Amino acid sequence: MDHFLYRDGALFAEDVPISEIAAAVGTPFYVYSTATLLRHFKLFDDALEGTDHLVCYAMKAASNQAILKTLAQAGAGMDVVSGGEYMRAKAAGVPGARIVFSGVGKTADEIRTALTGGIRQFNVESEPEMQVINAVALELGKVAPITVRVNPDVDAKTHAKIATGKSENKFGIPISRAREVYALAASLPGLEVIGIDVHIGSQLTELEPFELAYNKVAELTERLRSEGHNIRRLDLGGGLGIPYTRSNDAPPLPVEYGAMIKKTLGHLGCEIEIEPGRLIAGNAGLMVSKVIYVKSGEDRDFLILDGAMNDLIRPAMYEAHHDIVAVEEPAVGVEQRPYDIVGPVCESGDTFAKQRNMPPLKSGDLIAFRSAGAYGAVMSSEYNTRPLIPEVLVNGDQFAVIRERPSFDEIINRDTIPEWL
Ligand code: LLP
Repeated sequence: MDHFLYRDGALFAEDVPISEIAAAVGTPFYVYSTATLLRHFKLFDDALEGTDHLVCYAMKAASNQAILKTLAQAGAGMDVVSGGEYMRAKAAGVPGARIVFSGVGKTADEIRTALTGGIRQFNVESEPEMQVINAVALELGKVAPITVRVNPDVDAKTHAKIATGKSENKFGIPISRAREVYALAASLPGLEVIGIDVHIGSQLTELEPFELAYNKVAELTERLRSEGHNIRRLDLGGGLGIPYTRSNDAPPLPVEYGAMIKKTLGHLGCEIEIEPGRLIAGNAGLMVSKVIYVKSGEDRDFLILDGAMNDLIRPAMYEAHHDIVAVEEPAVGVEQRPYDIVGPVCESGDTFAKQRNMPPLKSGDLIAFRSAGAYGAVMSSEYNTRPLIPEVLVNGDQFAVIRERPSFDEIINRDTIPEWL
């Protein structure tokens, strides 16, 4: 459920007409709903009620500080995967004690930043990384709290580019080697082993792969405890999928996911962490764009938009489907026609949808991409010297620009010309 609904024939974000935002900031832009963000966070938080837990929002999904602050004020921690994300979370006011550091290639500098500023735990992904965390901790006279990310060799049944839990993936340590790696960790004086971490992929639409992985984690917890490790926290990653279409086969709900966690891991008495990103932000954001031209081709018609693959890369990169709707609600029973919906970037990959049925549209009409809140703005680029598009946050009947569209001067002046030219 989200808070982008039609009212009297016009699409709204909460109590604000999308057309009003478009008039104020120009197109294209991203718009997020505070109510949807909070609702989704609360679904996870409630799903783990009765268990000691922390929902650490995977901020890679949408990392604007206004979004981070909205969630942090509701009680969320953060999952970060770079020094930049760590600093962004801190800038948004999130205390280090609520920040988890994931990611397969943390550098000594990033580790130093986090240890100095405070960190809840590092999720360690390899032995060499473990040695570096130990060395940096000793250098700073600190002890780094760690979990080891184990790779459970489970098929997440999702798009290959976002599956992470198979043995061929670069992530984590094979669960079969976990015991020796924990033994190494216990021998390093700069580290304190506190738990186990696992994350098997993103946009999972079934509970079964999670359950297989979590059962393996349960077994490993008991095994490691019997070998003297004080395993007291389990970080279960993110990955629960969202409905990208309005069909009936929606992924499981957070409450079902939470019940499965309690069933598979509840008996261990561990603190539970989860790292959802997409489910919190995905359906809390739209990308709004304008039709520049309606072009009739030889065998098909094209809607050419002012938004492009640099603004929302998911269709080009993962063949991802986003529902695309007219901001002015089509009249009931109006005839729809198929269009290829494309951006103005100079490559055929700049295609959002092929032969998508749309109501009659003309130059200047606004359209909205649904489910664009996660992995939308954060993956955008300035390809074709197209400015990063603004982000807007709505809260009830108010809205605010939370990232401005840069001017062409700002973009162009970022280049520096060597003196020999
Ligand atoms: N934790 C870790 C360690 C992760 O690598 C990820 C996502 C998450 C949590 C959050 O997963 P989520 O709940 O959002 O599924 N750009 C791709 C998605 C990449 C996901 C990467 N890791 C897309 O647009 O579909």
